[in-house]
Order: sequence, then structure tokens, then C-alpha cells
Amino acid sequence: MTQCAVTVDERGFRSLMSRFATGVTVITSSGADGPAGMTANAVASLSLEPLLVMIGFELESRTLAAVRHSHRFAVNVLASDQEQVSRTFAGKQPEREKFAGCAYTERSGVPVLEGAIAWLHCELAAVYPGGDHVIVVGSVVDMGENGGEPLLFYGGDYRRLDSDVGADRHQNARHRGRPARVAR
Ligand SMILES: Cc1cc2nc3c(=O)[nH]c(=O)nc-3n(C[C@H](O)[C@H](O)[C@H](O)COP(=O)(O)O)c2cc1C
Repeated sequence: MTQCAVTVDERGFRSLMSRFATGVTVITSSGADGPAGMTANAVASLSLEPLLVMIGFELESRTLAAVRHSHRFAVNVLASDQEQVSRTFAGKQPEREKFAGCAYTERSGVPVLEGAIAWLHCELAAVYPGGDHVIVVGSVVDMGENGGEPLLFYGGDYRRLDSDVGADRHQNARHRGRPARVAR
């Protein structure tokens, strides 16, 4: 097996971590000004007893402020056809605009996105420092599954379980070729 050293700096770290394939979620919450939401893949199950999940939030995230405000959030696991939802919630437009094109229902005051293949509703359990991020721990109080295939993120681009190029481009022959990298 070929071994290749990677320079230990931000660029090398980003490149290396892009080799860790993940699903894609949108973390939703309810802030002082209404619904808030952020695309996130730094998401993992943490504990079975009690049921806990953990999420890495950048310190500037407005959704983090909403989570701190309401002490509640939902993890929406995106479906393979929700690449545009991911792109929208990865942006910095006003929260109202993020939710304008995406139907949702409210469960205990927290938006749950329609079309997601699964969702977890959590109460804020703890926030730990993590460099330029924080680790938010959520206690799972409700959850549901809707079925369907997941949206994936790998190598800086969106994927599907059966694809090796960007999910939207896979559907659209017009866009075949080298996909643009998505900045995180
Ligand atoms: C695929 C993908 C995964 C992301 N994962 C995270 C993450 O786990 N944590 C995070 O803080 N930001 C993550 N981001 C960036 C946020 O979605 C982005 O900064 C967003 O604008 C935050 O929105 P907000 O300020 O309204 O909360 C990710 C972006 C993409 C495209």
C-alpha cells in the first residue's frame, strides 16, 4: 500500500478529513427571531444510555445561538434528492429565506424538515469547547424515520450511495465532468 505523508496544517487536515465519508444533516432550532437551520456533517451518535448525540458547531453559527436560546434542536437526515436543501442551509442568507423554499412541520416548537429520511428531536444537554467550534451534546427525546436513500458528502462533494460524482450532476447529464468542490 502506498503511504503518503500529509502536511499537518489546515489545508492538509481539510483534505484528509474530506476522505471521511458522511451523511448530511440540517440542524434546526428555534431562536429569538424564529426558525434557524444549518447544514452539518460533524454529527455522531454519542451514547445509548442515555441516548445522546453530538454535533460540532462553528462559533459564529446563528443556529448555535438559536440552540442556546431554546435549548432544543432537531437533526434532520437529508435524502439523496435534498442536495439543494443542504446548499441552502449551508448559506448565510436570512433564516427566513432558508426556510422559504423548504416545507417543515413544528414538533415541540422545533422545525422538522419535510423530505428528510430521519429526524431526531433533542434537548440541549451540554456544550463543550472545541477550538473554533463547540461540541453540542443533545439528549434525544423523540425521533422518526421516513425511509429513502441518504445524501452523502465525500471528497468535498455530494454523493449518492450508487454514484461517484455529485448527486445533482449524476441526475443531469449536462453537468457531467469534474464537479466543483464545496467549501465548508
Ligand atoms: C456538507 C456541509 C457540512 C457542514 N457541516 C458543518 C458542521 O458540522 N458544523 C458547522 O458548524 N458547520 C458546518 N457546515 C457549514 C454551515 O452549514 C454554514 O457555516 C452555515 O452557513 C451556518 O449557518 P448559520 O450561521 O445560519 O447557523 C457545513 C457545510 C456543508 C456544505
